[in-house]
Amino acid sequence: MPLDAQSLRRVIGHFPTGVGVVTTRSETGSIHGLTANAVTSVSLVPPLLLICIDKKARSLLHLERSGIFTVNILAAGQEELSRRFATSGGEKFEGVSYRVGDNGAPLLEGAVGYLECSVWARHEAGDHVIFLGQVERAEARRSDPLVFFRGRYRMLD
Ligand SMILES: Cc1cc2nc3c(=O)[nH]c(=O)nc-3n(C[C@H](O)[C@H](O)[C@H](O)COP(=O)(O)O)c2cc1C
Repeated sequence: MPLDAQSLRRVIGHFPTGVGVVTTRSETGSIHGLTANAVTSVSLVPPLLLICIDKKARSLLHLERSGIFTVNILAAGQEELSRRFATSGGEKFEGVSYRVGDNGAPLLEGAVGYLECSVWARHEAGDHVIFLGQVERAEARRSDPLVFFRGRYRMLD
């Protein structure tokens, strides 16, 4: 029998991750984003990463339509930004400083790094959609990331 959702969430929560905000820009110019830690490097040649997006997320439709996204790697101290983008709907970008990346998606100020992608493939996976992104541009600075572990935000010692 498959494992129940709560148990999987609890156990996988022992695997520490960084915290990303996946941003995108629609064809009409509206910007969207959500907090995501299901982010994994997949291939170096070609450069591919994946993100997993809940089918219930409002951002999903915008990601599907735009065909581009950027993973903003949050820095230590950016928990508020993570919480904001983990709350569905609303004016998530109000009062948030960002610049526009080469692919058109927002780059959040203060993030440790950015991975600008174009959608390379899409796969249905249960209640999520996996997007494989081809990384077109990437940058990072030497700064501590925000860490998510056992359901809580942490910082590296
Ligand atoms: C630390 C953390 C990690 C998360 N990771 C993901 C993720 O990888 N994929 C996802 O679809 N939702 C993830 N979520 C939940 C979304 O951020 C949340 O459902 C959000 O409200 C979706 O926004 P939207 O409906 O406006 O698109 C995460 C939330 C938190 C707090």
